[in-house]
Amino acid sequence: MNVDSEIVSKAKAHLLEQESIAYKNLKAGSGKYSYLPRHLAQVERWARRLLGEHPEALGEVVLASVWLHDVGLLIGPEEVDHAVNSEVEAKRFLPIVGASEELVGRVAHCVRAHRCRDVQPETIEAKILAVSDSASHMTDTVYIEIANRGEREAALAKLERDLRDVSLFPELRDEVTSLYQGWKNLLTVYPDN
Ligand SMILES: [Fe+2]
Ligand SMILES: [Fe+2]
Repeated sequence: MNVDSEIVSKAKAHLLEQESIAYKNLKAGSGKYSYLPRHLAQVERWARRLLGEHPEALGEVVLASVWLHDVGLLIGPEEVDHAVNSEVEAKRFLPIVGASEELVGRVAHCVRAHRCRDVQPETIEAKILAVSDSASHMTDTVYIEIANRGEREAALAKLERDLRDVSLFPELRDEVTSLYQGWKNLLTVYPDN
């Protein structure tokens, strides 16, 4: 299965190209989700790395899921968990661009389980997505942005959830532990506004 398939390109375009509903909603969202293109690019980097370490995983499933896992922030009712909205949108969108029923099902599970809350990642592809999503926060500026909004406790809670989810791959947990500790140290002394 080709990792950079036509379907992956179309999932990416669904988020980032001007003719898509998701892109229009991103632009209309008054900057609320302006971090998404950067976030998705970061998640993609982690996903490609982890795919290299887990050759048994289906790359097309993982990468299509990278581009669709947060689409539910832009499409669907705001009061509904965005993982649920993303699953609905993946099931609507992927068949239109020619994805097989099997691919749709595999991607739907990945996006639905990416928050490791009410639905846990069961497949290697879903684990790679969830771990990539969490690890990407540790190599981005998201905790500082949350703390800057005056929500230092929320940033610390997110950091804890991210370490928990990265632990799906114990060897990666060891690798990011110093990063986790660094962010924790910083957030602990970060001045509240
Ligand atoms: Fe998400
Ligand atoms: Fe995400």
